[in-house]
Amino acid sequence: MCGIVGYVGHQNAETILLDSLRRLEYRGYDSAGIATLFLANTSCQTAIRRAAGKLENLREFVKQNPCQGTIGIGHTRWATHGKPTEKNAHPHQSDPITLVHNGIIENHLQLREQLLSAGHQLKSDTDTEIVAHLIAAEKKNNQVNFITATRAAVQQIRGAFALAILDENEQDTIVCIKQACPLIIGIGQHENFIASDFTAILPYTNQFIILEEGDMAVVKKDTIHITNFDGVEQNRPIKILDWSPSVAEKNGFSHFMLKEIFEQPLAITDTLRERLSFIENKVVLDGVHLDKLKHINRICIVACGSSFHAGMIAKYQMEDLVKLPVELDLASEFRYRPVLVDAHTLVIGISQSGETADTLAALRHAQNKGALLLSICNTLESSIPRLCHHSAGTLYTRAGPEISVASTKAFITQIVALHLLGLGLAQQRDQITKNDIIEHMNALLQLPTAIETVLQEDSLIQKIAQHFVSSTDMLFLGRGALYPIALEGALKMKELSYVHAEGYAAGEMKHGAIALIDEKMPVIVLAAQSHVYEKVVSNLEEVKTRGGCIVGILDENDDALKSRCEFSIHIPVVPKSILAPVATVPLQLFAYHLANAKGLDVDQPRNLAKSVTVE
Ligand code: M6R
Repeated sequence: MCGIVGYVGHQNAETILLDSLRRLEYRGYDSAGIATLFLANTSCQTAIRRAAGKLENLREFVKQNPCQGTIGIGHTRWATHGKPTEKNAHPHQSDPITLVHNGIIENHLQLREQLLSAGHQLKSDTDTEIVAHLIAAEKKNNQVNFITATRAAVQQIRGAFALAILDENEQDTIVCIKQACPLIIGIGQHENFIASDFTAILPYTNQFIILEEGDMAVVKKDTIHITNFDGVEQNRPIKILDWSPSVAEKNGFSHFMLKEIFEQPLAITDTLRERLSFIENKVVLDGVHLDKLKHINRICIVACGSSFHAGMIAKYQMEDLVKLPVELDLASEFRYRPVLVDAHTLVIGISQSGETADTLAALRHAQNKGALLLSICNTLESSIPRLCHHSAGTLYTRAGPEISVASTKAFITQIVALHLLGLGLAQQRDQITKNDIIEHMNALLQLPTAIETVLQEDSLIQKIAQHFVSSTDMLFLGRGALYPIALEGALKMKELSYVHAEGYAAGEMKHGAIALIDEKMPVIVLAAQSHVYEKVVSNLEEVKTRGGCIVGILDENDDALKSRCEFSIHIPVVPKSILAPVATVPLQLFAYHLANAKGLDVDQPRNLAKSVTVE
């Protein structure tokens, strides 16, 4: 949450900062700002431009009030402390220090009191501004330089913070601090870049340094010097990323979300690449230290949001494949429970961003109790994979950058990666026959084509969605592996369309939710073939009897059930092991088109941010 960028070099900083922020806006979009340093006559000055609302407002403001200079920092905000107003937008300043921040300063109240009693005038309601005052005070009171003052100030703050800091007296330097929030440095030719993630600066460089916990980097146009907070030198390797800059562009689609839905066949193909061996009849799990998992007797899965729903599908599938008990927890609950895990427990964290604070904390909690950690993640070298690195490792989904706040291709590839992991564990424990492995691998290979087929229903789904633009409530029903998909469909609907939507296990409906059904209640029933098909059909009839308007997600040849639904969307008949991801796609398109028909901001729904790095 919140995105930060920085630039020092020979080009116009304003242009690069605004361009980089555009690709980072998914991290927060309720206000934005930039600051540059420039020479006026012979003295260096700071230009600060900030605007409430979307980045577009800042862009307009900067057009009228340009900033000079070849060094600067920028920020796009998801408000935690202080309303999303211009006053609370970053950068914040205490002369001569200007900074941007991602994270939360947990002891800000106490520090605010100290600063106020020392006579400081605070202009915003944020936790961030106090850091600028602390550094400025250190400089002034102790007559130390920028770096020493920053180091002293950082020792006084607690919490999560990625900071990019300018000092008006040091017009060639950005100081970066990283503690529990992501921060990377992009390396250029006589120029360097700073960003919360790779996508922001991909058009400028593919060489990166990933800062680690407790790093402080002094970045100039030709040098990068990294130490810890005590000033001890740190060596960080340079990584080369082979992503094309176009992965972070819409490429002709009206929204990132639609592009990402249509990218799903490719994302699945990439996630499967070199992981299915038909020569040895086995799955190959690169990055997973299977040898460490020989003696596990239990699996726990922790995740949030859509990743949690992927975990729910995995629970059903893994128990069946691996023949071990699999528990599932919301990371935000797990982290505060005295959980019973030990050295024989494998705890799997699922996260697209790899930075979700609750999932990271849940994994740390498990690690402290001696459990083995493994992650399913989409973001290379993010905090969660790095935590799992010395334990059981990470199986990366290869969805590419997901920009839209709503998870689509990341979710689908998580299901695929977890399926692979289940097969890998089953084969290691001799719980699966060669024939069954081959059957599963063939099923996975069919998945991209099956999803292509569903994508061809896009215009039909768009038309159906238009019938529901005035709906205020919706129910999504499914059983078995389609129950998590009902939850996922409801989550997509809530976050994009602001429609109150609930996902329900179809068999549970009669215990309460059935009271909600009347002719105004659209009910989306996932009734594709499965071992509980007939039960779902009965549930559908119960809804119909009570006047509910049914949208059925049905098998392509299920004409009998089609006649019982007001609207129906057909999906191809596929092996049951890949039914869940196939049935997800119509619900993604349904939520997308409904939000779009309502004129809502699909890629950046209100109050949300892509990477939830706060509790
Ligand atoms: O990056 P993560 O997978 O850890 O994120 C978890 C959730 O915040 C995320 O899935 C969220 O629920 C999405 N907006 C859902 O579309």
